[in-house]
Amino acid sequence: MQLTLTILSFLQAPAAVTACEGECIIGITSAFLGHYTSAVFTTLQTMANQINTQLIPVPARQQNPTQYFDPVLEAYNLIAYVDLETAIFPRYFHGKCQDANGVDPPGCPNPDCPRVCGTPGSLVHFYPTLTSIVFNQTTGLLANLTTPGSKTYNQVLQAVMSDANEGQRKRLENLSRIMPLRSRGTIEARGISDTQHGLKNIMQKLPSIMLHACGGSGLSLCSWEQPMKEFILQYP
Ligand SMILES: *[C@@H]1O[C@H](CO)[C@@H](O)[C@H](O)[C@H]1NC(C)=O
Ligand SMILES: *[C@@H]1O[C@H](CO)[C@@H](O)[C@H](O)[C@H]1NC(C)=O
Ligand SMILES: *[C@@H]1O[C@H](CO)[C@@H](O)[C@H](O)[C@H]1NC(C)=O
Repeated sequence: MQLTLTILSFLQAPAAVTACEGECIIGITSAFLGHYTSAVFTTLQTMANQINTQLIPVPARQQNPTQYFDPVLEAYNLIAYVDLETAIFPRYFHGKCQDANGVDPPGCPNPDCPRVCGTPGSLVHFYPTLTSIVFNQTTGLLANLTTPGSKTYNQVLQAVMSDANEGQRKRLENLSRIMPLRSRGTIEARGISDTQHGLKNIMQKLPSIMLHACGGSGLSLCSWEQPMKEFILQYP
């Protein structure tokens, strides 16, 4: 079936010089974005569970720790579409292959034209590159949104610190019965820097957790090869 589609794209390419524009660009970008919802959510959920069990003392743990990532998801939802569209079109796939004078470069159009065309046939021909672009873009954006110092990272940090402190306070209430008061400051200070360090460590793992959610280096769970190729080729 894969072979059939590849041949089909070759056959179509010379005739279908039509570039992927308008509805085609919107449709394909939106389809990938929609397919990625599950991998994105699984990744953030995994990280949220690690935050909950590693950084938050039992008395303050969340029922639904994924909400720590609400600011990240909110920003992602605002930015993801435009950034993904740009990463695919025109950063890699360039509309028609023609130059400014409307002339096809030598050997174009065809799928292996030196300047990669943005035709549906070309998208199918370079499908592994396309899935790699989508994965890199999505993971890169989420990694940026969880980079220490970014606005969204700081929002997550604030919520995590607040719960961690609350848990620590409840714990210390109990501890104070058996421990002299002056030792408490030291414990509290160590708790804060441990939490900050721990959060950075968990955030750093985002790309590898995302890769795992996508089935590893072959991206087998983030390919949707058969349905996406059919979807792409429905555009003229
Ligand atoms: C995606 O990122 C990987 C790892 O950094 C890199 O090897 C690969 O070339 C990138 N893919 C694309 C299409 O840029
Ligand atoms: C991540 O941030 C860097 C530095 O600001 C930027 O160059 C890069 O394009 C961003 N990547 C994504 C996928 O947004
Ligand atoms: C405080 O100690 C009591 C009695 O040992 C225990 O039942 C309770 O769960 C403790 N609370 C916290 C927040 O650790």
